Amino acid sequence: METVLSGIRSTGNLHLGNYYGAVTNFVRMQEDYNCFFFVADLHSLTTYPKPADLHANVKSVLAEYLAAGIDPERSTLYVQSDVPEISEFYLLLNMNAYVGELERTTTFKEKVRSQPDNVNAGLLTYPVLMAADIIIHRSNKVPVGKDQEQNLEMTRKFAKRFNSMYGVEYFPMPEPFNFGKELLKVPGLDGQGKMGKTAGNGIYLVDEPELIRKKVMRAVTDAGPTKPNQKMSEPIRNLFTLMEIVSTADTVAHFREQYKTCKIRYGDMKKQLAEDIIKVCNPLRERINAILADEAYISKAAAMGREKARASASKTLKDVREIIGFRPF
Ligand code: TRP
Repeated sequence: METVLSGIRSTGNLHLGNYYGAVTNFVRMQEDYNCFFFVADLHSLTTYPKPADLHANVKSVLAEYLAAGIDPERSTLYVQSDVPEISEFYLLLNMNAYVGELERTTTFKEKVRSQPDNVNAGLLTYPVLMAADIIIHRSNKVPVGKDQEQNLEMTRKFAKRFNSMYGVEYFPMPEPFNFGKELLKVPGLDGQGKMGKTAGNGIYLVDEPELIRKKVMRAVTDAGPTKPNQKMSEPIRNLFTLMEIVSTADTVAHFREQYKTCKIRYGDMKKQLAEDIIKVCNPLRERINAILADEAYISKAAAMGREKARASASKTLKDVREIIGFRPF
């Protein structure tokens, strides 16, 4: 069975874009693949989170993924810093990564531009740690967004370099796992582009109904159609796309008809949309909060993940040490 792996940023709550765009796919992948999902808390150190925040962030990521349907028995859901093998492997891989190629990485160049006062070595070697994350489980597939494709390319480069340096076929080449055309792009509420962390444009799984209503009612619209079958502006198209995701086909058809015939009242459409979003978020929020309150459950899930991840990682590390020439006396 092929291995799928994905790292999850340890900051920020899940919004509907994450949920429909990625997490529901992870949940489905659990059926067909050997899945590793981990919270990338070592990576987060490049921005110096406060110790208490770091812990709370990791906990909330775990709770949200568990609530969304990641099954800790079926998948390996773990915290990166719980697996010291990754750090050792990262050190070894660093010897095989050239400063020049790391400096040319787009994500690194962006950081140099955006935070010139904090260009730490962890940022430079971020792709090496990511490669360690991926190949330590000899992963075959990595579901990544566009912004991570170059990092994945670097991973293949390091894996290939290791194989050829030692004349082995040890690491498979991890491929980006695109769910093809079906990958759902969830638009934001600000009338332009997809849902993201931009203030006001997203709905989070943990948002209370009142907040969801407020956000949806504030969503950007336009002046309304003035002639039958008028082409939709982007904000309106986005509202319909959201509605297609959360509402019934009948509801969508009703409002489409209203738009076509210029009878639509955006206020009514938003009210309906908000209620249908709430229907999706309510059970998820309740599960998230129940899990957050259940320390024993989270700690059991994390322990299960740690054990499985360490078993897999230490096997690879043992082989790698052997291949490199570290042998016990
Ligand atoms: N860099 C990824 C991000 O910013 C997170 C990540 C860390 C990751 N290690 C990974 C993703 C390994 C996939 C595989 O989203």
